[in-house]
Amino acid sequence: MPVVSQREYWDKKIREWTFASYGKNSRIGVIEKIATYFRSVNKRKDAALKLIGPIARGKTILDLGCGLGEFAFAILRYDPKKVLAYDISDVAIQEVKKSAKKLKTKNKIEFKTCDVSTLKQLPSCDIVVGLGFIDYLNPTQLKKLFKLIGNKPYLFSFFQKSISLFTMLHKIYVTIQSCPGAYKYSRAEIKKFIPKGSKIFFLEQDGLLFISNSPKIAKPL
Ligand SMILES: C[S@@+](CC[C@H](N)C(=O)[O-])C[C@H]1O[C@@H](n2cnc3c(N)ncnc32)[C@H](O)[C@@H]1O
Repeated sequence: MPVVSQREYWDKKIREWTFASYGKNSRIGVIEKIATYFRSVNKRKDAALKLIGPIARGKTILDLGCGLGEFAFAILRYDPKKVLAYDISDVAIQEVKKSAKKLKTKNKIEFKTCDVSTLKQLPSCDIVVGLGFIDYLNPTQLKKLFKLIGNKPYLFSFFQKSISLFTMLHKIYVTIQSCPGAYKYSRAEIKKFIPKGSKIFFLEQDGLLFISNSPKIAKPL
């Protein structure tokens, strides 16, 4: 099978992936239906909202790998100043644009098609979020991202490297789908990627794993 780039992969995939993951009515292939059963993507978004919601008011939130904007739109109910929604897939960003127009949230959401791994600096923001995002960054890219973020509070969902049925099925899934790069890391590996002296917390919310450098996010009041 031809090797495609992350951009091409997600341009093709993001609509079906989102419709399947968030239980939306659409034509969904059998493989995606099975994969959805294992992913808990909607639950992950709700868990992230519980963690970020209480500190979101008046803040600018940068959503990396925003997909069709499920988190970006949902966090608006917590009254952030702004949400910056970035994704490598232009198909995804065009959909976010359409939804923003439909939901009349245009002034609150700024969107941008961009490969986050090539950014030299992050836009001005208060909190960085990425759901199902760091799984598509290789070690060099992830290390660079942590360096760019510095001390800014972040929350990333985290699929831990492990020997399990889920890991095996996920590997089969990404191979069948010709995904150009999907990565799982151990806690020790993640700790090696963060800049020296930085904090990192591994936290669980509603059964889903996340990483953060902020005690405010890791221990919500
Ligand atoms: C598993 S989807 C998650 C989408 C969304 N965060 C959600 O949870 O509904 C991963 C997203 O990351 C985006 N992505 C992957 N690599 C990226 C990169 N280097 N820069 C920006 N976006 C990227 C993909 O286009 C895709 O939309």
